[in-house]
Amino acid sequence: MDGNGRWARKRGLPRIAGHSAGVEAVRRAVEVCARKGIEVLTLFAFSSENWRRPKQEVGLLMELFMTSLQQEVQELRDNGVRLRFIGDRHAFSAQLQDSIDAAQRLTAANQGLTLVVAVDYGGRWDITEAIRKIARHVACGDVVPEEITPELVRSYISLNDLPDPDLFIRTGGERRISNYLLWHLAYTELYFTECLWPDFGPQQFEASLAWFCTRQRRFGQTSEQVEQSEGA
Ligand code: FPP
Repeated sequence: MDGNGRWARKRGLPRIAGHSAGVEAVRRAVEVCARKGIEVLTLFAFSSENWRRPKQEVGLLMELFMTSLQQEVQELRDNGVRLRFIGDRHAFSAQLQDSIDAAQRLTAANQGLTLVVAVDYGGRWDITEAIRKIARHVACGDVVPEEITPELVRSYISLNDLPDPDLFIRTGGERRISNYLLWHLAYTELYFTECLWPDFGPQQFEASLAWFCTRQRRFGQTSEQVEQSEGA
């Protein structure tokens, strides 16, 4: 969700005003996904590296996460949304950690859109955590190195119970993955747009979906093979 700062600067506003406008864009994106029956939406809200931002911005972002969560959780619950968080939460305040736990508990039984929020998340962190856990199992003899397959590694990585993302959208004109879901994005279609995140609305979402529909997913196969299996 890139471009909040630039959106604010263009208007002579403090960066946090861009993040607040970003929350509105989150709401719109959630509505579009729910309406379209999209099963999972994962938002990159705060990366492992975002701690390097000015202390004041980090503090205000934490407050914004807290207030947005408290304000939105009931409505999300009433609309069948299941909230999940991924990332290393230990540096968050106890209050924010409690709100995250409460929001997950409150919406756990919902069957609609799964809304995953990645906070203090990094793809490298995720893979490193998986390696650490596997190494412990190897060390105590529960797993032998020959049993370490991509499937086994996947089972230790966040969101292992969900399908890999079909579509990745990055706003704000950058063409990078920036340590997002590194493991998961192996075959994801990557969509980059100049649109700043606070300006990203249903029309922009539709445009990204229309682009996605033009993509042929080959997963290593040839076009001919894919076309043959589609025709079958
Ligand atoms: C990147 O834009 C944005 C962030 C680091 C924060 C994203 C957070 C939100 C949209 C708040 C709401 C989230 C939830 C889930 C409630 P940037 O600041 O790097 O923008 P710039 O590239 O223009 O400086």
